[in-house]
Amino acid sequence: MKKTAFSLLFAAISIGSAAADDVIKDVMKKYHKPEDALCKKVGKGEATNADLSTLLTAYEGMKGATPPKGDKTVWAEKCDALIAAVKKVQAKDATGASDFKKAVNCKACHDGFKGK
Ligand code: HEC
Repeated sequence: MKKTAFSLLFAAISIGSAAADDVIKDVMKKYHKPEDALCKKVGKGEATNADLSTLLTAYEGMKGATPPKGDKTVWAEKCDALIAAVKKVQAKDATGASDFKKAVNCKACHDGFKGK
């Protein structure tokens, strides 16, 4: 399972020709930043099954990457919170969307892990 997720992510990344250590930036630019970003669709309950598995793969890759600052254990917990929330939404758990909105809080994560 994990292996599949990683190879999928690598496939996605090589298309974008980003270096391996740009995994986090790549996820941000593709799935967090755009007006119609996938993360926004999840919060609104509009994400399709394909959207959710794309995000899951992205967050699993992000968990394995090293952020510019902050504690690696806490980083993994932040990523796990995102992963768990997406899995809840996939399982049609009604609390999934609110869990996700909490986990995807931009500022809460950037304060601890994003460089200047
Ligand atoms: C779980 C933690 C986490 C969450 C949640 C998060 N980010 Fe980030 N974000 C990061 C980290 C870490 C970086 C720095 C990556 C680097 O410089 O390698 C970053 C960088 C970025 C960047 C700069 C990318 C670049 O090209 O340098 C943008 C834009 C961004 N985030 C947007 C968002 C938005 C919008 C949200 C909320 C919807 C969000 N992020 C939520 C961790 C997070």
